[in-house]
Amino acid sequence: MNPVLQHLLSNPIVRSGTCSGISPQKVELLMELVTELRPRQSLEVGLAYGTSALAICEVLPPGSCHIVIDPYQTNHWEGRGLQHLQQAGHADRIEFYEDFSYRVLPQIEAKGVRVDFAFIDGRHTFDYVLVDFFHIDKMLNPGGVVLFDDADWPSIRRVLRFIVMNLPYQVYKTLPANSGQASRRRQTYDIFAALCSVGLNAISQIPGFREPISRAFGGDLRGIDKRCGLMSPFIALRKVDTDRRGLKHFEFF
Ligand SMILES: C[S@@+](CC[C@H](N)C(=O)[O-])C[C@H]1O[C@@H](n2cnc3c(N)ncnc32)[C@H](O)[C@@H]1O
Repeated sequence: MNPVLQHLLSNPIVRSGTCSGISPQKVELLMELVTELRPRQSLEVGLAYGTSALAICEVLPPGSCHIVIDPYQTNHWEGRGLQHLQQAGHADRIEFYEDFSYRVLPQIEAKGVRVDFAFIDGRHTFDYVLVDFFHIDKMLNPGGVVLFDDADWPSIRRVLRFIVMNLPYQVYKTLPANSGQASRRRQTYDIFAALCSVGLNAISQIPGFREPISRAFGGDLRGIDKRCGLMSPFIALRKVDTDRRGLKHFEFF
């Protein structure tokens, strides 16, 4: 492993009480994915100190390029993500944009950029993640993969639910969920939701009941996450087809 990445993993930089970079387990899965996919063009939202970018660049095939977007690299992260990439010898394969992803992504899509792999780890609210995904989907080749960090956050989980329920994407790889970390309140809620989902799914089998149940009860109570394999903090989805939805298509999620 590149010594710069090795150093970052063994000495994570803590800022405002939190560690910005992805964990060693996530780095391992990320490198495994990129090694397997051999993307000619990859893209990442959210550079920070560069842990995930270093991991991606280390296993990218020769001649490929990695686009990175982060509006706060200079001011908040003191340019250290870019410095790390340079120190590791990856500067020549990076195309960096210091701006918000919602501005950069449509611009590069309009230039005709196509990607085979994307990693979304920027601003974590529902709307920002959905907008990141929306634009990335327009550039992602069929067979390509998009990876979400912090996929167990309620905001990001809902984006994933929308995608797997409505678009031609399938769960491709995940990191196992660490259930030991869930709070007692969360564990109680999960048991309650699991019990509800058994009842609701049974009622949904009755002809004419599926849609009213879907309208009335959210994805948590219908057990969508478990059924779709979304119980993980790190989820890679594969695009299996182009979007063929009709104008009014909508699956409750
Ligand atoms: C959790 S950190 C990314 C960590 C990084 N992937 C790593 O492994 O080191 C989230 C990053 O998203 C960036 N960010 C926040 N809002 C953004 C936006 N609208 N567009 C792009 N990046 C954004 C932040 O500056 C921060 O660097």
